[in-house]
Amino acid sequence: MPELKRLHAGHAPAVLAFELANRAYFAASISDRGDDFFARFTDGYHALLAEQETGMRAFYVLVDEDGSVLGRFNLVNIEDHTGELGYRVAQHVAGRGVATATVRELCRLAAAQHGLRTLRAAAASQNVASQKVLTKAGFVAVGPADPAHLGGKPGTWYRRDLVHDLVLKPAAVRSDPAGS
Ligand SMILES: CC(C)(COP(=O)(O)OP(=O)(O)OC[C@H]1O[C@@H](n2cnc3c(N)ncnc32)[C@H](O)[C@@H]1OP(=O)(O)O)[C@@H](O)C(=O)NCCC(=O)NCCS
Repeated sequence: MPELKRLHAGHAPAVLAFELANRAYFAASISDRGDDFFARFTDGYHALLAEQETGMRAFYVLVDEDGSVLGRFNLVNIEDHTGELGYRVAQHVAGRGVATATVRELCRLAAAQHGLRTLRAAAASQNVASQKVLTKAGFVAVGPADPAHLGGKPGTWYRRDLVHDLVLKPAAVRSDPAGS
């Protein structure tokens, strides 16, 4: 079963393979990384790991049983118990609910391990798949996003309250007769 793991140095070759294999697929809906990203991949990867050390960013990879990367899920701009979510999932597993399930899992991790109370994410108006992922994972549209944030495309900010889930879980356990 695929596992969501915190990005580490050992994931570098699988992350590069994932980005190369899906470059054209991703570029159809979000900004292309650019040739420099691939030419200087190792330097950029080390920079990411250093940023992660600051606590303002947390990078995750969904790793398949064979070690290949199925998706990347990132928490960025972490500050004041709020963060911003970004993600991308491999074309060969598209439409199977991978992004939706993993975003839900990351919401739990964001609260439990990173102390976040809210998460926000921006999706371009034309990116219907991403909008569906967000709404199915409990995000609600809260207003227009600056096109500069979405590679020049118009879009919408979505937001999800994470505290609500943490509060509801103990109550659900208490009211379960089988668990008493
Ligand atoms: C957006 C993305 C993460 C979705 O990943 P995924 O694992 O295929 O998503 P899921 O299977 O969980 O759900 C996708 C939903 O969008 C729908 N969908 C997929 N492509 C679509 C399209 N072109 N138009 C309309 N709906 C689409 C699917 O049918 C599914 O909805 P459903 O469950 O109601 O059938 C993936 O397409 C991707 O990586 N895209 C490029 C990067 C990107 O856009 N990232 C988000 C930036 S905001």
